[in-house]
Amino acid sequence: MFRGGVVVAVAGLVCGGSFAAAPEGGAVTTGGISASEQTCRACHALDTTKVGPPFRAIAERYRGDSDAVAKLKKSMLEGSSGKWNTGAQMPPNAISAADAERFAHWILGIK
Ligand code: HEC
Repeated sequence: MFRGGVVVAVAGLVCGGSFAAAPEGGAVTTGGISASEQTCRACHALDTTKVGPPFRAIAERYRGDSDAVAKLKKSMLEGSSGKWNTGAQMPPNAISAADAERFAHWILGIK
């Protein structure tokens, strides 16, 4: 969970804090993940559509989908197009499967 309102949450993202502070907590490393976070933020924001859909909308769409983590991981690792009607596509991201899983959990944990 975020410590405060949306502003704090977004600030947390900008500082590189929130992805690392995944809902499951402790076991998450901080090394190496920041660079890919920067990449994500070029196209995604928490609440607004940039190139890609807002992370919050992704969380809402996949809530209750038991395959959500697997689907989001696949999209991040292999790229995605045509699901969100943004007129853009997501290229495969140069992240590890472990990072993709971490991002998936983080996104799905957004309330
Ligand atoms: C070049 C721009 C770009 C970058 C960089 C990017 N995305 Fe995306 N992302 C998109 C677009 C566009 C979509 C919508 C694709 C579609 O319509 O299927 C998307 C969709 C997604 C989805 C939803 C996939 C689905 O199956 O519904 C997730 C999750 C996601 N991005 C996470 C990330 C993460 C995490 C990163 C960083 C590691 C990242 N994205 C980097 C543009 C980007």
